[in-house]
Amino acid sequence: MKALILVGGFGTRLHPLTLNFPKPLVDFANKPIVLHQIEALKEVGVTEVILAINYQPEVMISFLKDFEDKLGIKIRCSQETEPLGTAGPLALARDKLVDGSGEPFFVLNCDVISEYPFAELIQFHKSHGGEATIMVTKVDEPSKYGVVVMDEDSGRRVDRFVEKPEVFVGNKINAGIYLLNPSVLDRIELRPTSMEKEVFPKIASDKLLYAMVLPGFWMDIGQPEDYITGQRLYLDSLRKKASTKLAAGPHIVGNVLIHENAVIGEGCIIGPDVVIGPECVIESGVTLSRCTVMRGVLIKEQACVSSSIIGWHSRIGQRAQIENTTIGEGAHVFDKVHINGGVVLPHEEIKSSILSPG
Ligand code: GDD
Ligand code: MG
Repeated sequence: MKALILVGGFGTRLHPLTLNFPKPLVDFANKPIVLHQIEALKEVGVTEVILAINYQPEVMISFLKDFEDKLGIKIRCSQETEPLGTAGPLALARDKLVDGSGEPFFVLNCDVISEYPFAELIQFHKSHGGEATIMVTKVDEPSKYGVVVMDEDSGRRVDRFVEKPEVFVGNKINAGIYLLNPSVLDRIELRPTSMEKEVFPKIASDKLLYAMVLPGFWMDIGQPEDYITGQRLYLDSLRKKASTKLAAGPHIVGNVLIHENAVIGEGCIIGPDVVIGPECVIESGVTLSRCTVMRGVLIKEQACVSSSIIGWHSRIGQRAQIENTTIGEGAHVFDKVHINGGVVLPHEEIKSSILSPG
């Protein structure tokens, strides 16, 4: 089977992290987001992944070449010269997706994290005889997403698909994970066009669109607060499935993932819901909760970080306090500085406190 991952888009809502890396390569639980997806696809027998790309292609290609061999899966790029939206890239990759086998193929948004229940999706798709299956999940704030209204009788056929509705139509939303028959490609023109606004509504009105409720957790991690929530859900799920991967000890609170190459000083309090990447140095007396510390970060003595993402190779000074903040690659926060809310650009130096979001 084949899969296409939509890795275009500029990832602006995940700035400043996406100023240096394309969104799919941003680490999540110490692994680029897109690798979580590729590994799960491989598990259900996908042999070839096509990355639909329009932004920083060189970075993606050189990075993923390494993983082709490691994972034993073919990874190809389909590169747009102008952004084609969420459907146009499928038309562009048509020849790469269709191989005459008539088998359905997967399509994924690159920023969604879950347990990827692809085997269940394949089974469901085979059971209904429609043209396309989308996975749906329940959320509290459906207006940020594509809302899927199911037919009441069947409970699984989609009646209506409304992208980012302004008025409430339902709380089951498109999880950005699809299994599509090759015939769906006949509905898509090679131009900038949207799966959600143009293609799905038409398949739904032909009564050929089905939806399966995704078991387990789900999150679109394309915004910092959602990224942190997604990390909490992911660590919860890891606790249930592979708890030995989580850190243990008197200094650990709740679910914490620490890379084996990270160094942790004396008297730290770490957790809940913390991920620490490789080559990080966390000096003594540091307190970390609900945060991500990416590769190569130095956090000096007695600093305190909560509800924040600390980008690659940044330095956080002694007794600094960081809350509700996203810090770009290689930034430097000086000793005793307090930041509450906002974004620190890559390589920026912060010498005095910032107490209102900015
Ligand atoms: N190749 C390519 N070209 N990819 C693109 C382009 C483009 O022009 N524009 C967006 N993408 C990719 C993004 O990288 C992402 O993987 C996916 O398409 C969806 O774009 P987002 O910008 O993340 O959309 P969203 O989060 O607002 O909404 C989408 O995801 C929700 C679930 O997270 C929609 O599919 C909603 O219906 C859905 O509920
Ligand atoms: Mg998104």
